[in-house]
Amino acid sequence: MKVLVTGGLGFIGSHTVVELQNEGYQVVIIDNLSNSSLDVLKGIVAISGKTPIFEKLDLKDKVQVQTFFKQHQDIQGVIHFAASKAVGESVEKPLLYYENNINTLVYVLQELEKLNVSNFIFSSSCTVYAQADVMPITEGAPIKMAESPYGNTKQIGEEIIQDTCKVNAKIKAISLRYFNPIGAHESAIIGELPIGVPQNLIPYIMQTAAGIREELSVFGDDYPTIDGTCIRDYIHVVDVAKAHVIALQRLLKNKNTSNFEVFNLGTGTGSSVLEVIQAFEKVTNQKLNYKIVNRRSGDVVSAYADTTKANEVLGWKAQYNLEDAILSSWQWQKSLNAV
Ligand code: UFG
Repeated sequence: MKVLVTGGLGFIGSHTVVELQNEGYQVVIIDNLSNSSLDVLKGIVAISGKTPIFEKLDLKDKVQVQTFFKQHQDIQGVIHFAASKAVGESVEKPLLYYENNINTLVYVLQELEKLNVSNFIFSSSCTVYAQADVMPITEGAPIKMAESPYGNTKQIGEEIIQDTCKVNAKIKAISLRYFNPIGAHESAIIGELPIGVPQNLIPYIMQTAAGIREELSVFGDDYPTIDGTCIRDYIHVVDVAKAHVIALQRLLKNKNTSNFEVFNLGTGTGSSVLEVIQAFEKVTNQKLNYKIVNRRSGDVVSAYADTTKANEVLGWKAQYNLEDAILSSWQWQKSLNAV
């Protein structure tokens, strides 16, 4: 069965391609290589022993998207990761984000309308909840005003899909709202590849420990939390990847209860920034250089998932904990250093 993975050479996309191939799916990857590299394709082949079809294609090019789908009419499912994802950059370049994340989604959905089978998995984010009032966050929590153009593209993206599903019963979709995906494949052959100075906590910790960065800045220790630092739900990328396969199978087997469903993907456990640092120091047995600095603007105080719906309805549960994920990130970082 042929499955299209857009952005399949990115961080979560590449891990999902591995899991799909492990389950026997024939994978077609589209990626424009704007934030990824062909080495990732080699890594996928090395891990799974299977070579996915790869097309370097920019989804912003509507004609190319049309041509691609004409050539691949036997696609049974689409997992759509391709998007820009840097919150800060989205504030600086909102139109770039609306073009990259919204236009492309529309073009893909327009082609799905023409197919006989349209099973669509959307890469969404807990950012759609902004600062939720109640923890843990359920899928029923209100969608609040987005705090960045990036967050807005995920909210609008979900609305576009929902509106499309309403008028076209043939299109079935699941939106997966990730909390904070971290970690790497156990082989340490694929993992996260931040470009330039990392903006996210785990890559910054890894590069600091590897001596690439001098010290980690912890953004604020005066939040109303157990130790004053922000709380997040860090989830292993392999768990996130497996959830995509399960979600796709749910649609393929017609187990969905409506043609647009949403699920949170998290562990259900919130960890503070200082707890993440402690976990890193424990599993690697080394001290991390860090200092407390001012808050980063736009950070929510706390965000962790209620995973009941994902566990009971989707039938998925995170298998790895924070320490497992951090250790896998460290092994990945060490393999990068060795190159
Ligand atoms: N942090 C630091 N120092 C750093 C980087 C991060 O202290 O150098 C802190 C942040 O202040 C935050 C926590 O670590 O408290 C996690 O920050 P990340 O940047 O790793 O993750 P965010 O929760 O800010 O962002 C993630 C995704 C976004 C998504 C957002 C939704 O990266 O794509 O969750 O809440 F929009």
